[in-house]
Amino acid sequence: MKFDKPAGQNPIDQLKVVGKPTDRIEGPLKTTGTAKYAYEYNEQVTNPAYGYILGAAIARGTITRIDQTAAKAAPGVLAIVTAANAGPLQTGKFYVSRFLAGPQVDHYHQAVAIVVAETFEQARSAAALLKVEYKKQAGDYDLEASKGSAQPPNPGPYTPPGETLIGDFEGAFKAAEVKIDQTYSTPDQAHAMMEPHATIAKWDGDKLTCWCTIQQLNWGIRDLGVILGIPKENVRLISAYIGGGFGGKGTVLSDLVAASLAARAAGRPVKLTLQRPLMFNNTIHRPKTIQRIRIGAKQDGTITAIGHESWSGNLPGGMTESTIASTRLLYAGANRLTRLRLAVLHLVEGSAMRAPGEASGMMALEIAMDEMAEKLQMDPVDFRIKNDTQEDPEKPGRKFSTRKLVECLREGADKFGWERRNAKPGIIREGDWLIGMGVAAAMRGAPITKSAARVRLDSSGKITVETDMTDIGTGSYTIIAQTAAEMMGVGIDQVQVKLGDSSFPESSGSGGQWGAASSTSGVYAACMKLREAVAGKLGFDVEKAQFSDGRITVGDRSAALADAAKNGELVAEDTMTYGELSKEYAQDTFGAHFVEVGVNAFTYEIRVRRMLAVCHAGRILNPKAARSQVIGAMTMGVGAALMEEMVVDKKVGFFVNHDLAGYEVPVHADIPHQEVILLEDIDPTMSPMKAKGIGELGIVGVAAAVANAVYNATGIRVRDYPVTLDKLL
Ligand code: MOS
Repeated sequence: MKFDKPAGQNPIDQLKVVGKPTDRIEGPLKTTGTAKYAYEYNEQVTNPAYGYILGAAIARGTITRIDQTAAKAAPGVLAIVTAANAGPLQTGKFYVSRFLAGPQVDHYHQAVAIVVAETFEQARSAAALLKVEYKKQAGDYDLEASKGSAQPPNPGPYTPPGETLIGDFEGAFKAAEVKIDQTYSTPDQAHAMMEPHATIAKWDGDKLTCWCTIQQLNWGIRDLGVILGIPKENVRLISAYIGGGFGGKGTVLSDLVAASLAARAAGRPVKLTLQRPLMFNNTIHRPKTIQRIRIGAKQDGTITAIGHESWSGNLPGGMTESTIASTRLLYAGANRLTRLRLAVLHLVEGSAMRAPGEASGMMALEIAMDEMAEKLQMDPVDFRIKNDTQEDPEKPGRKFSTRKLVECLREGADKFGWERRNAKPGIIREGDWLIGMGVAAAMRGAPITKSAARVRLDSSGKITVETDMTDIGTGSYTIIAQTAAEMMGVGIDQVQVKLGDSSFPESSGSGGQWGAASSTSGVYAACMKLREAVAGKLGFDVEKAQFSDGRITVGDRSAALADAAKNGELVAEDTMTYGELSKEYAQDTFGAHFVEVGVNAFTYEIRVRRMLAVCHAGRILNPKAARSQVIGAMTMGVGAALMEEMVVDKKVGFFVNHDLAGYEVPVHADIPHQEVILLEDIDPTMSPMKAKGIGELGIVGVAAAVANAVYNATGIRVRDYPVTLDKLL
């Protein structure tokens, strides 16, 4: 089914099941520990061996010798895989470009060897016996120092143009009545998902099956096929439950490659998980940025010039952190400049992490907006509202499909009690605590992508959905069940959902907050076909038919759905594809974040006291799951604001705090009170579902709202994240 004009009335609009705050259908499996994660498929493989990755001990240089004598003689060792015996591995533009070091080492903790043994402990202890000799080479690890040599980014499918210039930015900025010119920085961040990267790999002849934990099975089979030099048809990936991804499990990471190579070398299935301390320097991360923002305005608050220049680093050929994405669309202003620059750094690849680009870009832009509002002596909510735009500021005449940023800001200000904020910082005090409030806008693109599904109707009237969509903890199982139930007119308990198997029809996968809207649209398409099949079988006119209560009805004639499958299951499959509507309209999600903090007047300890998010993100398929997504994202935003930072050792060239003891993230006690308001939004330009994503919108702007609240509490402006108390003293 092709979607190429705005959706009209359709079966989803009944909203009998879709749009309801439904509990997760897989929830009991998770809370009872019976949902199987990658490393737990023990019945599926017999006699597995265990793999263990030894990471490089240098950041850059060459391996001159690996003495394997002691390791090979160690108890239980079955095989040792290195670049010398792994066979050819293709390199390319995957999230990670080279999975095995040797002889060249590209970054610290790049895999040097995979030791395979009878037990995990034997593999680990044998790995410690490998003697690796290196010849070190100098590297660049410091973005600040390498900024001057940065270049326009490498073009790629997810990389926007490196520079846009509208009007006369420099002239307008120079002439502006009120202006700011400030530089902000965001640190390297880790996804720090609970479930580490893990794979069980099993070969049957030249066919490979992996139980793994990745977000995009379609990218996974494609990339693993290319890397190993086998057709993607020979690769089957199973990823039914995922213990958090946040972009860090988008496609193939080293566990998949290492487990596959190890299983081939050992002639047995291999279980391999990345040990936590390896993950930080071996897998991808959100890269550090330095961002210069210039805003010029008239005395009345009208922005006349807005400029955003941004620097990030990566290994040669790596992608840029596209921080300027929101700045191109969020606020009006006739004269505009955005510019991305990419430096070469010899740290592990920077890549996608929850709302890549937008999240880190808005950490800077939305502090700048706060600084500008203060200079103009305007309320920061009013300043943003004044500069709202209803068309793409870089492409005049191009409308947003829907956009209620102003309503988000107004509703939030009202519900949060914004009028109690004192514009003058450091005034409101409760005992030892200075109290401050901050606001930030949120904006995140709403991409949609083709997605397929298969639906089956059996003779008992039950519906089964099969698609290779994943559920990264987001609620995919539930919204897909809701969609099929709505389409076929059955209760949600009549629907079984099977996800996370690449042998199922190819879905959108989970990423870029496209999963919810895209995957349910694929289910919609397949269900439209199943409705036709049912009507055809039972002699009804599908155009006139009502599907409800497990029955198909036209006028006073009615039959049970089950009757259509009496003589055998009915199966329908389809792919939802898209025309050019997304070029005609800017399709984005919007929001506003409000935060209240207390800062201890003596120790400068920062405590978040209250948070509110107002979101405008298309039709909300399941308000309960959507709210969970947003509060999770808000929590991660607090981490970005106050805690999260991978500290670079600029001499040795690696992230120093590479475990969950040293890499701090918020816990429940850090986040006392969170509220989410979901504004009504039906976007018919997106898909028949009229929905958008919300999982990444929820994090964008949060950190700046926290930083702005800290400023309001203390009068101290921190432009270098995370905002830790040492920066306030
Ligand atoms: Mo997301 S960072 O695009 O999985």
